[in-house]
Amino acid sequence: MTKQIQIAIDGPAAAGKSTIAKKTAELLGYTYVDTGAMYRAITYKAIQLNINLQDGEKLTNLLEQTTIELKPSATGQLVYLDGVEVTEQIRSTQVTSSVSEVAAHANLRTEMVKRQIEMGKDGSIVMDGRDIGTHVLINAELKIFMSASVEERANRRLLDNQQRGIKTSLETLIEEISLRDKMDSEREASPLIQAEDAIFIDTTSLTIEEVSEKIMQLAKERIA
Ligand code: C5P
Repeated sequence: MTKQIQIAIDGPAAAGKSTIAKKTAELLGYTYVDTGAMYRAITYKAIQLNINLQDGEKLTNLLEQTTIELKPSATGQLVYLDGVEVTEQIRSTQVTSSVSEVAAHANLRTEMVKRQIEMGKDGSIVMDGRDIGTHVLINAELKIFMSASVEERANRRLLDNQQRGIKTSLETLIEEISLRDKMDSEREASPLIQAEDAIFIDTTSLTIEEVSEKIMQLAKERIA
């Protein structure tokens, strides 16, 4: 039987993690878990309920009473919040600009990480996020830390948004991405940091295919 491994992909905002993680999972026949979508889903619910996003205790209680499911579909991963599909809603500008504040609460993260460890425990998994290699899949056979210059990441997000009919300027995106990176990297609870045993890939001048090839090569070495 072939070995079923865990693959952790971390890195700053808009580094192309989800595109690559999804592709890798597809090629290997593995499950893909977008942990950012889980933080976005609880943020969306908290905004709907008008909960103070600085109140970590309230947010953690809320999460404990919330189900978040990620289901694969032909059009990509669908996100369900308490049984209702919210895939598009969690990508709104309001959620994007609030999610790092919510994700900074230590107790809320403990609950999220518990769920993510459970999702990954049987292997055959590609998970992307900020703390996967450091706190979630700590024994993953393959850990990747992906980044690119902030200009390149903003450019890619701009194209992404254009395709989805969302109007944004490059300057706004550079600001939003830089602020989110700063908050994610400077928070006390499991900040965005490269795991010691992670392989760094700078994707600034690489195509999706080139990054994917590199990761598949590394994955195959681990599986063999
Ligand atoms: O991956 P994405 O950009 O959708 O993540 C949204 C936000 O969720 C991040 O900016 C970060 O604040 C938070 N996050 C996190 N830990 C993860 C995944 C996402 O703190 N593992």
